Amino acid sequence: MQKCVIELKNIEKRFGPVVANDGINLQINRGEILCLLGENGSGKTTLMNMLSGIYQPDGGEIYADGKPVAIRSPKDAFDLNIGMIHQHYHLVDVFTAAQNIVLLDEDGKMDMSAVNSRVSEICSKYGFDIDPKMKVYDMSVSQKQTVEIVKILYRGAEILILDEPTAVLTPQETDKLFAVLRNMKKDNKAIILITHKLAEVMDVSDKVAILRKGKYVGTVITRESDPQKLTDMMVGRTVSLNINRPEYQNPQDKLIVEGLTCLNYEGVKKLDNVSFTAKTGEILGVAGIAGSGQKELLESITGLYPVKAGSVRFINEDKSETELVGKTPGEIRKIGVGMGFVPEDRLGMGLVGSMGMTNNMMLRSWRKGKGIFFNRKNPEKLARKIWDDLEVVTPSTTFPVRRMSGGNIQKVLVGREIASNPPVLLTAYAVRGLDINTSYAIYNLLTDQKMKGAAVMYIGEELDVLLELCDRILVLCGGKVSGIVDARNTTKEEIGFMMTSVGGIKGGDRK
Ligand SMILES: Nc1ncnc2c1ncn2[C@@H]1O[C@H](COP(=O)(O)OP(=O)(O)O)[C@@H](O)[C@H]1O
Ligand SMILES: [Mg+2]
Repeated sequence: MQKCVIELKNIEKRFGPVVANDGINLQINRGEILCLLGENGSGKTTLMNMLSGIYQPDGGEIYADGKPVAIRSPKDAFDLNIGMIHQHYHLVDVFTAAQNIVLLDEDGKMDMSAVNSRVSEICSKYGFDIDPKMKVYDMSVSQKQTVEIVKILYRGAEILILDEPTAVLTPQETDKLFAVLRNMKKDNKAIILITHKLAEVMDVSDKVAILRKGKYVGTVITRESDPQKLTDMMVGRTVSLNINRPEYQNPQDKLIVEGLTCLNYEGVKKLDNVSFTAKTGEILGVAGIAGSGQKELLESITGLYPVKAGSVRFINEDKSETELVGKTPGEIRKIGVGMGFVPEDRLGMGLVGSMGMTNNMMLRSWRKGKGIFFNRKNPEKLARKIWDDLEVVTPSTTFPVRRMSGGNIQKVLVGREIASNPPVLLTAYAVRGLDINTSYAIYNLLTDQKMKGAAVMYIGEELDVLLELCDRILVLCGGKVSGIVDARNTTKEEIGFMMTSVGGIKGGDRK
């Protein structure tokens, strides 16, 4: 059996004017874990979708076991033993794991006991941990992902493609997944893992193929490379991966949250008795599995989400306190609580699409009710600073923001919030989807604000960044505060346990 199962030569794919893939070469081998590394939008998903039969290339050739092939449909891919786990799962909620696994089986016969035993066999062979009889709606994200993987193995996949599978996992779940991948590798399967996390690349892969802006940069052997080299290849120039974490002298309480409880429209508790204090000169990180109450926390503090019980007190310069619960978002902003929240709809967050950057800067300062930006010179200066610092791609500061790309709109939104110097700065998902350079520029701007004495809250997705950037980390679990730890003296593992069980009791149950 030859080692190379699939080879891509000079693959090209365009979407209208966008060249998503241009001259890509890739060799996929049995018994090997290949990471496909690249920044957002570099063409990773598009390339793999051509192997799984979702798109057809506009140019180039694909070889399977040395012979040229055309993969015109998912069925063609499957006939070549290629299986892909997409970022969004395709499971039927009301079915059990086993029922989902056989759903795509063509002969249609449902001898469930035979299915269950075959599923159990696959699970024990590779080290999966699922109950075939469990219903999908009772499963955690990680369990659903496991079902997707077992599903394609059940159908006989030899070449497995996983598109950013760890984005939704805790560190412990990621370790488990990697153990499974290593078992598959031992079983001589070919594995392609898409990721943009360097620590994972270094941990699990044998080789790394790097894409940059749709182009193929090269393939390197992991143990002959290092995170800095990989980043430089990914970005195309040298990027500093250091986050500076200076210590602020004498932090003071700035925002005191006590017993904050919020219900959603169905009466379900989204925040449950949340208490903490945010201090001046500090970045307080917030970690948690997606949907653990992060969004509700930020929105309830800023007056956008109804509060059932509890208080949020803002400490004024003269040490007097102002209760924020019950105030409107506009009033809370005026008091000095700024929010850089990056939702799906970036234009919904107080940017006017038809205006350019400069006018959008003025908009923010008018709302704040202060006169400092009333001449045009300051907003223009501010717009230019954001344009430079965050490398906003726009022809001018008057170019309508609506016509910028999503990532650039996000830079304007987050940059403006940071630059308005609020005493309390709340940010959520500020770097989601941005490239590495801009992400690090934003970390630096947040640290600048902290050293100017702002109380900064940073709700983030990447634990590595939370650990390096923040002073303390608050961990949410199911709407409760699982714990607050000193970021300088904790580990990913400790936070991972706290994410899945309140208080972080080892071996605690997730559901
Ligand atoms: N169906 C599509 N239609 C138009 N453009 C697309 C489509 N899919 C991807 N693109 C574009 O192709 C480029 C590469 O995207 P993608 O493969 O998703 O990147 P990655 O997975 O590396 O983040 C991006 O510029 C993206 O906007
Ligand atoms: Mg992708």
